[in-house]
Amino acid sequence: MYMKEQTKMLQALTNELLKNASSIEELRDVLRFHEFRYYILNDPLISDEQYDRLYKSLEKLETENPKLITPDSPTQRVGNSLNKDFITVAHLVPMLSLDNSYNSQDLIDWDKRVRGLVNTENIEYSAEPKFDGASISLIYENDVLARGVTRGDGVAGDDVTTNIRQIGSVPLFAKFSDYGIEKIEIRGEVLMTKENFKKYNLMLEADGIPPLANPRNAAAGSLRMKDPAAVRKRRLEAILYHISFVTTNQKKSKGSELLKTHSGSLELLAGLGFKTPVHKKKVFNAIEKVVAFCEDFETRRDNLPYEIDGMVIKVNNVELQQQTGSTTHHPRWAIAYKFKARQASSQLLKVDFQVGRTGSVTPVAKIEPVHIGGVTVTSISLFNADVIEEKDLRIGDTVLVERAGDVIPYIVKPLTELRTGKEKKIIFPENCPVCNDPLVKPEGEAIWRCVNINCEAQVVERIIHFVSKDAMDIKSLGEANVRKFYSLGLLKNIPGIYKLDYDEISKLEGFGEKSINNLKTAIEVSKTQSLNRLIFGLGIRYVGETTAKVLSKSVESIFEIANFSIEELRELKDIGSKVSESIYEFFQNQDNIKMLKTLEAAGIMTKGDKKEEVPGTLSGKTFLFTGTLPTLKRGDAEKLAEDNGGKLLSSVSNNLNYLVTGDSAGSKLEKAKKIKTIKIIDEQDFLNMIHI
Ligand code: IVH
Repeated sequence: MYMKEQTKMLQALTNELLKNASSIEELRDVLRFHEFRYYILNDPLISDEQYDRLYKSLEKLETENPKLITPDSPTQRVGNSLNKDFITVAHLVPMLSLDNSYNSQDLIDWDKRVRGLVNTENIEYSAEPKFDGASISLIYENDVLARGVTRGDGVAGDDVTTNIRQIGSVPLFAKFSDYGIEKIEIRGEVLMTKENFKKYNLMLEADGIPPLANPRNAAAGSLRMKDPAAVRKRRLEAILYHISFVTTNQKKSKGSELLKTHSGSLELLAGLGFKTPVHKKKVFNAIEKVVAFCEDFETRRDNLPYEIDGMVIKVNNVELQQQTGSTTHHPRWAIAYKFKARQASSQLLKVDFQVGRTGSVTPVAKIEPVHIGGVTVTSISLFNADVIEEKDLRIGDTVLVERAGDVIPYIVKPLTELRTGKEKKIIFPENCPVCNDPLVKPEGEAIWRCVNINCEAQVVERIIHFVSKDAMDIKSLGEANVRKFYSLGLLKNIPGIYKLDYDEISKLEGFGEKSINNLKTAIEVSKTQSLNRLIFGLGIRYVGETTAKVLSKSVESIFEIANFSIEELRELKDIGSKVSESIYEFFQNQDNIKMLKTLEAAGIMTKGDKKEEVPGTLSGKTFLFTGTLPTLKRGDAEKLAEDNGGKLLSSVSNNLNYLVTGDSAGSKLEKAKKIKTIKIIDEQDFLNMIHI
């Protein structure tokens, strides 16, 4: 739509306009151009804050000269374009945006504006997090979830009901009728928690697929996926924060009192099983208190399980909300208080190639140090060669960097408009940068590997992983000491930790009696760590903490794992074929068994915590759950099976006795149908088995 020349010209004009206000038509052109970059190309050239500044200048000019307002002005519409693949449906009430504020003065000014619009001085404000995910609108009719729709252009969105139904925290049924509510439209945000985002990315990486950039993209992308089962795997959450439309039946008035305020509406939703903003009861009677709350919240944003990019302040009383009304763009009764930006631009200086404990070679960008959200970023993982290629990164590029919460920083993109022509291509090495062996890339994977298991880089990384916090947690022997001892020949492998020569170490600078004693104690204590930590610490490919726990629960001693076949490993909970093959390979390797024997001889705990089976009505029977069950959550159903003596399997095999199926059961059901001995039952049959 915009040619390269035009882009350059409009960007230059943007810079000019950001400095000086200018003519209405120029402003509109520039805003339309940035909307196109943001909404259509998903490739903004300016920050939200800069966009807002331009938007507000236009709004100001139009307010001063109402005659100049045209129907196609960016101020006169709600949003952007639609995804054609889903059916488009109209929202009952347009989904507006929020006006933005960036500091206390902005909020104080907003308070003044609100006070000028309402007929009372007693105004209560609510304040809650501004969730950084994908907005949705849910409609319930006669207590049933009838529809879930994306924001779309604000007037109409994509019908993504099937995908919304995969989100565990969205009730498919809620007793609105108890409150006399017949039809209701609720607004909220679909999110992926930071923890699930990390886990999901680990899963992708294990499959050699490049990781997703941030939880926001993960949530938004998930809503548009074709396969509902894949949506479920992403373990999304939905937080509901606004009732936009409601019809009530006059006979019951229980809801009417609650619906009079925003905080009451949230209470009503929470009471019906919806997730609502955590600080739902936060209401304030003065804007100064709101400011203090928002400022304090910003310091704690990283403690939340999901990303937030600010706070939303709302007039609490719905009657007063109606008195303030809305513009075509945003309601006047609400405002977003945006936290400090977590994006910044910097220069890509060089790319290093690091060898991990499994031999994976990761390109790491070294950038000109840049402050983002209170942290200085100098190094950024680029994950694999494909990412470099897809983003077309070059040495010398100015790059846009984002750091969201405790999500690791990443390069959003190079700012190609700023290239001078002197940028250099990034060349991926053909040989291991540490041991010089040729690198290999297994078929279907995105990662180049050094397959020399004695490669020094891998050995050191394995020891570092073994002593790390979530593994054996030997604090005094952190990464720096492992590297130091290794380079001095004092530590050569994992068992070496338990045979350190303390006389030699005491000769090193910084190792007085006290630190040696600390080190000795920490190493001694690690011998009693539970087996799951030892298994995790071994750094077996694809074996994370969860798998390590499953394994340790399945054996009385670590050496028993060697007796499992690939198929038997696969039957353990949540262990897929890749993971089982990798575990099998590790325990068939006699060098590894020898290492474990040495560790055992040094006094390390190798006993597992396999429990006697719980006797119960389901004793001796195996279960697998698939699809969405009508009333039980998956985890609760699995717990019921286990509590009653049943055993859970993770895949369909001859050893499976019962497949409990729910809505949209997929490939597991098809596979089970082919094995005659498997009984295919539904939730009710299952509950009957345990007499519920
Ligand atoms: S209230 C009519 N509350 O942020 C106003 N919106 O950037 C209804 N958002 O369009 C919105 N957290 O999608 C509201 N606690 C919150 C929110 C929130 C995130 C989204 C919402 C809005 C966008 C504006």
